[in-house]
Amino acid sequence: MQIVRGKKLEKAAEGEFERLVEESSRVVVDVGTGDARASYRIAKENPDWLVVGVDPAWQRMTQTSIRSRRKPAKGGVPNLLLVNASIENAPEELRGAADELLVLMPWGKLLHGLVRGDEDIWSGLRTVAKPNAPLTATVGTSIWREPVPRDIQGLPELTPSYVDEVLTGKALAAGWKVTGFQLTKAEEAAAVSSSWARRLDSDSTEVIATLTAVTAGPEE
Ligand SMILES: C[S@@+](CC[C@H](N)C(=O)[O-])C[C@H]1O[C@@H](n2cnc3c(N)ncnc32)[C@H](O)[C@@H]1O
Repeated sequence: MQIVRGKKLEKAAEGEFERLVEESSRVVVDVGTGDARASYRIAKENPDWLVVGVDPAWQRMTQTSIRSRRKPAKGGVPNLLLVNASIENAPEELRGAADELLVLMPWGKLLHGLVRGDEDIWSGLRTVAKPNAPLTATVGTSIWREPVPRDIQGLPELTPSYVDEVLTGKALAAGWKVTGFQLTKAEEAAAVSSSWARRLDSDSTEVIATLTAVTAGPEE
């Protein structure tokens, strides 16, 4: 597994991940972590959790990595691990590791796969999840408003009926039971006292689609 350490990418040391998991009470995997600032904040607020940020664009994680490696008194966060990977090719070590998954404001293949219900993305998410692990995914719906970015054209909009009629079945086929779907104004989402939601308060006109799911047991 390739870890971002400061400005460098390094192979994880033998047993490193297992040790971090053993020392933690909960493993949260933030898929498509981007600049990893949300992961950093969650890790800082929950020092006994292990927060794993996963993103194939590893250079974007370097600033947060540098910050997280300082001494704890200077902002260091030893319970944050930043991994260079795409979710459909998640490293072996992450298999079945996550007590909880986040996919916050994805773009690119992650956004398209999440919204279309692509097998590789949803199975990738399933691969890293523990049984009964919850997933929270958020998407800003302004991407479907004019002018629709070229990359989004043709991408079905996340609406309650689309989620019900299309996405729920596809997610289930990949081992996820959809448990909820909400459209919330960003300012309301920001009022929710969880760390990740507070990240959404920059644009108060935005409506955020939040999809929640839980890994479905083999019997479902
Ligand atoms: C808008 S950015 C960052 C979002 C971040 N969670 C936040 O809240 O700031 C979306 C990220 O999704 C990542 N991404 C795209 N496809 C991915 C995939 N297949 N697996 C994991 N991450 C992916 C991109 O590299 C990008 O950094």
